[in-house]
Amino acid sequence: MATVQYETHEHDVIVIGAGGAGLRAAIEAAAQGVSVGLVCKSLLGKAHTVMAEGGIAAALGNVWPEDNWQVHFRDTMKGGRMVNNWRMAQLHAQEAPERVLELERWGALFDRTKDGLISQRDFGGHRYARLAHVGDRTGLEMIRTLQYHGIHQGIDVYMECKIERLTKDGDRVSGAFGYWRNSGEFVLFKAKAVVLATGGIGKAWKITSNSWEYTGDGQSLALWAGADLIDMEFVQFHPTHMVWPPSVAGLLVTEGVRGDGGTLKNKQGERFMFNHIPDLYKGETADNIEEAERWYTDKKNNRRTPDLLPRDIVARAIRAEVKAGRGSPHGGVFLDIASRRPADYIRKRLPSMYHQFKELADVDITKEPMEVGPAQHYVMGGVRVDADSTAATVPGLFAAGEAAGGMHGSNRLGGNSLSDLLVFGRRAGLHAALYAKNLGGRLNVDAGHVQAIARETLEPFNRTAGENPYAIQADLQDTMQNLVGIIRTEEELKEALKKIEALKARARKVGGGGGRTYNPGWHTALDLKSLLTVAECCAMAALERKESRGGHTREDHPYSDDTWGTVNVVLSQRDGVTSLRREPLPKMPDELKALLQERT
Ligand code: FUM
Repeated sequence: MATVQYETHEHDVIVIGAGGAGLRAAIEAAAQGVSVGLVCKSLLGKAHTVMAEGGIAAALGNVWPEDNWQVHFRDTMKGGRMVNNWRMAQLHAQEAPERVLELERWGALFDRTKDGLISQRDFGGHRYARLAHVGDRTGLEMIRTLQYHGIHQGIDVYMECKIERLTKDGDRVSGAFGYWRNSGEFVLFKAKAVVLATGGIGKAWKITSNSWEYTGDGQSLALWAGADLIDMEFVQFHPTHMVWPPSVAGLLVTEGVRGDGGTLKNKQGERFMFNHIPDLYKGETADNIEEAERWYTDKKNNRRTPDLLPRDIVARAIRAEVKAGRGSPHGGVFLDIASRRPADYIRKRLPSMYHQFKELADVDITKEPMEVGPAQHYVMGGVRVDADSTAATVPGLFAAGEAAGGMHGSNRLGGNSLSDLLVFGRRAGLHAALYAKNLGGRLNVDAGHVQAIARETLEPFNRTAGENPYAIQADLQDTMQNLVGIIRTEEELKEALKKIEALKARARKVGGGGGRTYNPGWHTALDLKSLLTVAECCAMAALERKESRGGHTREDHPYSDDTWGTVNVVLSQRDGVTSLRREPLPKMPDELKALLQERT
């Protein structure tokens, strides 16, 4: 076969992914004086970050002076059921306030309190109203601000570019090879350090808030390059998304609706969350309507409403109501804010929700309840990183945001994602730049390896009568939706793994009709590799963890088990074969353990 042609760009640091984490990493790396390339699969600014609508969690103490990083740390660890990387949770809680204030200095226009401070709203699992917000468009404002700030920092931006594989010089990562989505031509980025900030894996499921970009690229690139993944069994099903009409099923309904007073009801009008309060949250959750109602008016002296329990609990409760035949007409439950808040308040605090329901479902949320249900939203697992530097287990590779694992343990609290992106995006950019500076010299890229990747990338064109990539993706989505969903069993997970194996065989025969110029079928054929990789990792880890914890519920092992509460499931790949092992969690220092006992 003839030698494949490609263009080459060279930078000290390449950041793959341009959502909140990628942009923040690129900004920080550029601030260290190194040359930075920011590569994104989509157009700049199009990122899942915008689907964190309700706010950024940070213990600013603007609404509740009692709030501080220690309480935020405790809430995060409790929400993650104690399997979080404690050091990440500590750094996150300590640094989030400064990252929010920095964002404001860069131009983010947050909503204000009456005293002119950044306003903070209630969210699930957070003891105090802690989410700095911009209506229900906080992620969008964050991206807008970072993008605007970032484009003035001398960063080279490469849009609509899909990375297929990382290159290595010996043990070290030395670059990334991919293609332009519009022309199909190849491109090599040589770099001393690579930051993965590619987001999640949602497109492996049928009903997800993730858009087409989220095919597990970063997790797979890391695994293929020899890095470890952790916690892949922990998948977040955010409780509230639109369930109807079918064309918009999976569109996020922000937790901010409940944070601002919305309540969940079943078709009998019952506030069913009172029947689903787990022991862990009993002490701090109102167990009757009267007390919950008092909390809305006097938050200080009353236990919180169960509508604001962490997401894993609410998602399971909704699923149980629907399964018991108490769901709404389109297979969800009702979310009602109209009967608690005036129309003006709803339109001001939740403008996107108002328009979304009015325009897409002809529902006026200031007058009637919404129909909502859970959808895949986030993966807690990802690339295993060092907490302080975000370094992966392969030299020269860093990961931040949803692509990295550990920070959120088994379940992420709402709003902790935007703060995670800022805290660890900054750390990733900083440490990648320092690593690149210290490395000196240049790294090699193996030309033979590059040719091999290019040939593999073109293979679908050799199979004009090959398998249809969309059919394989749809079958994978059905498999994950039905067998690796909110509730799992050993039998189902084994069945999922069998199906994934069969899908991998079909994917090896996938065809790519047409040419290389903007060819979505070919792009889908290539995305299947990473989708199948992360799907297999999820199912394997979920089969291994024989307990229920956070975003991993096993019907056949319904309780949390202390033995499992001390380990991570770690995945790695050698010669194309994925294996897993259990490793003890990093040991938490006594002073942090003491914080977990306190209740402020
Ligand atoms: O519900 C939301 O606004 C989503 C926030 C998040 O995922 O952090």
